[in-house]
Amino acid sequence: MGRRWPLLLGIVTGLAAVLAGLWTGADAADQWSRAARWTARVGLPIFLITYLASSLVRLWPRPTTRAIAQSRRWWGLGFAACHTVHLYALIRALEASGEQRTLASLIPGGTAYLVIAAMTLTSNDAAMRALGRNWKRLHTLGIHYIWLIFTLAYAGRLSDPARLPEAIYGVALCLAALAIRLMARRRA
Ligand code: HEM
Repeated sequence: MGRRWPLLLGIVTGLAAVLAGLWTGADAADQWSRAARWTARVGLPIFLITYLASSLVRLWPRPTTRAIAQSRRWWGLGFAACHTVHLYALIRALEASGEQRTLASLIPGGTAYLVIAAMTLTSNDAAMRALGRNWKRLHTLGIHYIWLIFTLAYAGRLSDPARLPEAIYGVALCLAALAIRLMARRRA
């Protein structure tokens, strides 16, 4: 297993979130809506560990932060796996609710999935060598785009009193993570 365990963690937490949704939901629409929400909710911390891996070790060099930085690729792949489960759950949720979405409303999230796919396919040494400086461009831009989609998804829930707890959870974590990245940049 070695450094690869974050990938397993992403798969297991994603599937556990779906099971929890299926277990507790009242009907198919509610079950898959919960599964969609909970897969995103457990995916966020895994994403943020990937987003922060290099900043944490720069700010606080310790065995734990070094280990996270060294296994960063596997944290990223763990997030991709967990968010693939979100994709499955949200397709089932949209099917079950019969809710129609406009194509325009699917563009930001759909683009995020293309970004996640591109980052996953290039998370290996051969792709890093082949892409050279473009590898860093793709991964830096990509990780900030995913951060933005998470932040906007939760910020959009701030105005809904029923969703305030998860909105605060998401917005606070995303903004704290951004602050840590900015601190690490200043330190550099
Ligand atoms: C076209 C692509 C996507 C669609 C159609 C979609 C759809 C959904 C649906 C149906 C829900 C459950 C809504 C509810 O019942 O309240 C949901 C929740 C959520 N999604 Fe997605 N999603 C997409 C992509 C993404 C991406 C790429 C991200 C993050 C990078 C993301 C983050 C979230 C978050 C944060 C929640 C709320 C989680 C919570 O309640 O804690 N989604 N999405």
